[in-house]
Amino acid sequence: MFQSVKIAPSILSADFMNLERDIRLIEQAGAGYVHVDVIDGHFAPNITIGVPHVKQLARIAEIPLDVHLMVSNPLVQLPWFIAAGADMLTVHAETLEGQWLESAVSLIHDGGAKACVALKPNTPAEALASVIGSLDMVLVMSVEPGFSGQGYIEGSEDKIARVVQMAREADNDQLLIQVDGGIGLATVERVCAAGADVIVCGNAVFGADDPASALKQIEELGNQARLRALAS
Ligand code: DX5
Ligand code: ZN
Repeated sequence: MFQSVKIAPSILSADFMNLERDIRLIEQAGAGYVHVDVIDGHFAPNITIGVPHVKQLARIAEIPLDVHLMVSNPLVQLPWFIAAGADMLTVHAETLEGQWLESAVSLIHDGGAKACVALKPNTPAEALASVIGSLDMVLVMSVEPGFSGQGYIEGSEDKIARVVQMAREADNDQLLIQVDGGIGLATVERVCAAGADVIVCGNAVFGADDPASALKQIEELGNQARLRALAS
């Protein structure tokens, strides 16, 4: 069955002095999620958004908050973000050795949020093996975490295809695959053809002259690529 792609604009590229205006804009344009990049300056080189911001975002956002934790100690921090109102919480596989990855997924579910695990560009899809059956979403990063506006790393779509295959083998047919980094008009088709369901866009939406129409165009191209892939 055809399922349309969802756009998750990253507010890292929004106007922080007019965040509510920017969130209304993407909601009206049909965005599926608000993507919130939390970076601690240790796991990745930038310091961005924290718990108090997420709490206030949760008060005004009408679409789910998709919180991408790029922090070195996710087990300590994730309960804070769930309490603040994250609907979907993403932790990085690189920060959770062995059984801690499973513990983090359980902790997120126990807190009532959807659980997602992210992979940096050099982390293989196999790092998901112990949890893929119980995840709601996998995030394939197509840039190194840290900043908006970087170029898409060629070949990232191969990892998306591998995750699709692993989800099938694990019988997880509800799993969403999200892709994050350097996605816009030039790159959305190849990631959607490979199986991406949720498309994070920072610069390609908020850096456009007309963010609402950029969002709709990216979504439209993504859906067309999916339809072509299904038909082939
Ligand atoms: C990078 C973040 C991304 C970033 C995406 O660490 O995870 O979400 O903001 O921005 P663009 O779409 O501009 O690459
Ligand atoms: Zn992100």
